[in-house]
This record gives sequence, structure tokens and C-alpha cells, in this order.
Amino acid sequence: MTAAGIVGTGSALPERVITNFDLEKLVDTSDQWIAERTGIRERRQAAPRETTSTLCIQASQRALEMAGLGPHDLDIIICSTISPDMPLPSTAAFIQHGLGARNVMSFDLAAACSGFLFGVTVAEQFIRTGKARYVLVVGAELLSRFLDYKDRATCVLFGDGVAAGIIGPVEPPSGILATTMRTDGNFAEHLYIPAGGALKPASCETVRAREHYIKMKGNELFKVAVRSLEEVCRNVLEKAQITANDLDLFVPHQANQRITEAVRERLGLCTEKVFSNISRIGNTSSASIPLCLDECVRSGRIRKGHMVLTAAFGAGVTWGAALMRW
Ligand code: ACO
Repeated sequence: MTAAGIVGTGSALPERVITNFDLEKLVDTSDQWIAERTGIRERRQAAPRETTSTLCIQASQRALEMAGLGPHDLDIIICSTISPDMPLPSTAAFIQHGLGARNVMSFDLAAACSGFLFGVTVAEQFIRTGKARYVLVVGAELLSRFLDYKDRATCVLFGDGVAAGIIGPVEPPSGILATTMRTDGNFAEHLYIPAGGALKPASCETVRAREHYIKMKGNELFKVAVRSLEEVCRNVLEKAQITANDLDLFVPHQANQRITEAVRERLGLCTEKVFSNISRIGNTSSASIPLCLDECVRSGRIRKGHMVLTAAFGAGVTWGAALMRW
């Protein structure tokens, strides 16, 4: 079996910054509430000319460059997104075309905030078994296009952004050491977009009722997120037979700084070993973990040999953790 790991990362963030003060002008909220309850101070918002796929292509080119590869080296392209350019065809098809990759299988994956880790787990299987050599996994969201800027409970949380990882063969002891991914559809309506699908097709009524926007029961999800993240982190540490003390860095999905803090405490990690960029980026769902990884790799916070634990939780609900030695 070939060991698989992340051999390149790249990001693409829209330039436009939306601060909490900007949102104070749209909904009944305050910088103080948002910062204290979530840790978020600003987030990015795509310009009208930007789409999920245009940012995907930029991030993927940067990841290929870091890996020292070209588009023709790719065997598979997986785009994790819940905010695709359009329902049909897949955003992955636009990425394939934009990169000029040949002979690749390209598809979208919908697992919300856990999607990048789900994609890495799929990619790992192909590389381990020798069925593929390099897999591009992109976490991509333009959630601003699906947010109700009249709903203060959701519009303050999410931001736009895209980041990519190239998964490929690596020399042990580097590589993906353990993964655990889970889903529980019992909580599906805790975070969903009611209309626009086959169940409730878009109509004037659904638009009038604002049902094409994200709806969330944040308070209830909070508790499920903390419990689930702790469980899955402990599970991968146990699989790899290491303890939290052996970690160099914990990179959690950036949903809420209070969730990160609660999980950090439960795992017994010191604050220096936990990465956070939520104050600048907000919750970018699928893009959250690869944006963090790219920032850490480029700033030297993650270096070769580091033991890195990543964990995510999102709509579905889905959750998962992946342990990697860089
Ligand atoms: N500004 C001011 N007040 C607000 C705002 C706001 N933006 N939003 C809600 N409030 C109010 C509420 O109306 C409520 O008022 P009330 O007490 O008068 O009824 C009060 O603040 C408390 O509301 P809660 O919902 O209990 O606030 P909480 O502390 O739980 O924070 C939050 C809300 C930030 C959404 C939090 O619950 C959270 O982060 N949940 C988890 C979200 C998550 O993990 N989602 C999954 C990943 S995302 C994905 O998959 C795409």
C-alpha cells in the first residue's frame, strides 16, 4: 500500500472584507455580540464577477504550483461544496475545464463543513490502492449567495473562500495516519436550505418565504458539534495509538471560537497547539480546513514531520477527523 498525504495546498479569498460593523447596518446585531459569541470580526465576500469555480481554479493552480505538478498529473478532481456554481453540472467539471486537466474523473461532494475531510478520505483510498497518483480536493464555498441578510442568526457567521489540497504518494512516516468520518441525518433540519431542490422546487412562493436561504438551529447544533468533535478526535488518536500530547497542531473547522475552545479543553490541549483564523475569515464551511492548512504551511506553522489533527462538523449532520504526519 502506498502512503498518501497532502503534497500541496493553495487558497483563493475574495478581496472584499465585510466587518461586523458593516453587518450592524443590515441587521439588529453588534460587533460586540458577534465577537463575543463567535470570535468573528470580519469575513470575505465574493464580488459579483467571482463564482465558486473561478476561485476554485485559482486555489487549485496555487496548490499544483506548491506540489510542483501540472494539471495533466491529476487523476481525480473532487470539489466539496454546498454552494456550487449551479445545480447541474458539477463545479468539478468547471474546474477540470479551467485547469485544462485531461483524462480525469471529476465530481462534487456535498458534506458541508466536513466535505474537505470526506474528500481527503476518498482520495486516500485511491492513492493507497494505486488506482490514482494525484487527487485534487477543493473545499469551496460562496455562502454569501445563500445567506439571508435579514436573518441575524446566520448572516453574521459565514464567509466566502476556497482552498485546495493535492493528495499524493508520500514517504512514510509522513502521510494520513487515521481518519474517521460520520453522518447522522436525524439532525438534517438543524441546518438546511428548504427550497430549490426536488422536494420543494423553486417558485415565487418559496422565494417570497425566503426558503432558498440557509436556516439554522445554531444553539442546538452547538452542543452536538462539541460532543461529536471530541468523540471523533479521540477515535483517530486511538486508531493511531497516540495521545493529544503527541500533537504539534490541532486544526478544527472554524465554526465558532467557543466550539473550538470547548473541544480544546475536552482534549486537554494547550491554546498554542490550536489554530484559529475565524476572526478574519468567519465560517467558510468546506473551505475552512484547507484555508487553515494552507495558511499554516505557508507561514511555517506546519512543517515536515509535524503531527497534525484536523476535525470538522457541519450540515447533514456530518463530522470527521483526520490525523496526518506532514
Ligand atoms: N446579533 C445579536 N443577537 C443575536 C444574533 C446576532 N447576530 N444572533 C442571535 N442573537 C440573539 C438570539 O435572538 C437570542 O436572543 P434571545 O435570547 O432574546 O432569544 C440570543 O442572541 C441568544 O441566541 P443563541 O442562538 O442562543 O446564541 P448562541 O450563543 O447559541 O450563539 C451561534 C449562536 C453563534 C449560532 C452558535 O449557536 C453557534 O455557533 N452554533 C453552531 C453552529 C455550527 O456549528 N454550525 C455547523 C457548521 S456550519 C455548516 O455546516 C455550513
